[in-house]
Amino acid sequence: MTADGTRSLRVNGDQVEVDLGGATPLAEVLRDALGLRATKLACRRGECGACTVLVGERPVMSCVTPVALVDQPVTTLEGLAEEIADVRAEFADRGAFQCGFCTPGQLVHIAALLSRSSETLSDEDLAESIRAQLSGNICRCTGYQAITAAVCAVVWRREADEMESR
Ligand code: FES
Ligand code: FES
Repeated sequence: MTADGTRSLRVNGDQVEVDLGGATPLAEVLRDALGLRATKLACRRGECGACTVLVGERPVMSCVTPVALVDQPVTTLEGLAEEIADVRAEFADRGAFQCGFCTPGQLVHIAALLSRSSETLSDEDLAESIRAQLSGNICRCTGYQAITAAVCAVVWRREADEMESR
């Protein structure tokens, strides 16, 4: 933070200046100062995962992350929209959400999972890794079955596309 109280952040590829205090949670900066409202605020105490964004490559709960501690680029769901267009479509096709309040945080976690998974897993291990990745994202509406099935379908399709392109 500078002497005048501003903070410089890289968000979704853009360098932005925000003039909120360093103790302000990252989620509030994203939503209120930058208008990136895909990031949801629910519990506001690090328990539900609705506010998850990427800091660097790492999913973090932005409601309990003071903006002063953010020292890597931030990516919100808006910045991941194209990269996970197939996941969003699969969620819609399979009814993997109802109210959708938890969905942005889940999609950010899924983006992190997809970006680091290179080895081919058995169906069971893949489902397990998806469940583990989403263990901090609380959904009160759906079961996790449709969500897991949607992500599995994306992984299998991406693998098939990659095989075909070799
Ligand atoms: S709103 Fe951040 S974890 Fe619930
Ligand atoms: S779809 Fe409503 S909380 Fe998850």
